[in-house]
Amino acid sequence: MNIIRAKDYHDMSQKAAAVLAAQIIMKPDCVLGLATGSSPVGTYAQLVAWYENGALDFSKVTSVNLDEYKGLSGDNDQSYRHFMDQHLFSKVNIDIQRTFVPDGTEADSEKACQIHEQTIADVGGIDLQLLGLGHNGHIGFNEPADTFTAETHCVDLTESTIQANRRFFASADDVPRQAYTMGIRAIMQARKVLLVVSGADKAKAVKEAFFGPITPQVPASILQLHKDVTLVADEAALSMI
Ligand code: GLP
Repeated sequence: MNIIRAKDYHDMSQKAAAVLAAQIIMKPDCVLGLATGSSPVGTYAQLVAWYENGALDFSKVTSVNLDEYKGLSGDNDQSYRHFMDQHLFSKVNIDIQRTFVPDGTEADSEKACQIHEQTIADVGGIDLQLLGLGHNGHIGFNEPADTFTAETHCVDLTESTIQANRRFFASADDVPRQAYTMGIRAIMQARKVLLVVSGADKAKAVKEAFFGPITPQVPASILQLHKDVTLVADEAALSMI
């Protein structure tokens, strides 16, 4: 694993954006696995800035997102489709038809997950998967569990995740209780993984994920078995290792 130490959130975002930019420059028709949450917001902002000054071209890029709340449509400003539109898709020249986010409006969980899984296969897998890290070690919405789940699946969100994400909603009651998430297989089969982590509140999760036992109780710990993982984290997030 390659650990890149950043000074702070801004520095982390610049460095992570540089890794993504290199991927797009090296392979313009690459497949990016994308993530939501506050961690990658600065990364996307830097990519947009490089697009605006002509340094990056997204016209041949395909993207596949990690997850989506079950029950939220893309029009809902808390949906991950809306997040991606707001922070990246509407600001660069990516072909929106080649941006794939699980369909939160599909009530049939099995169908929604099968479609996303098939999409990942159809686009030929993921060249570079961007990930954030949950406080409980989750990646995407792969929550701590007794086993790893390989394929895209519907999850019941843990109380810790509901509380962590309530800041984006009017109240905790408004946070959806379920989500569709890419499973561990597609993440582990991504040719490269880039994890962005910031803040002292993530330090314990970083330590457990990368220096603790590999266990589904800390889903990110499976990344210890991936052959090409880059962790870009700020000093606060690395303070326990
Ligand atoms: C959310 C998302 C994850 C994200 C994580 C951390 O629940 N499903 O994909 O990486 O939690 O979020 P944040 O970056 O806001 O701390």
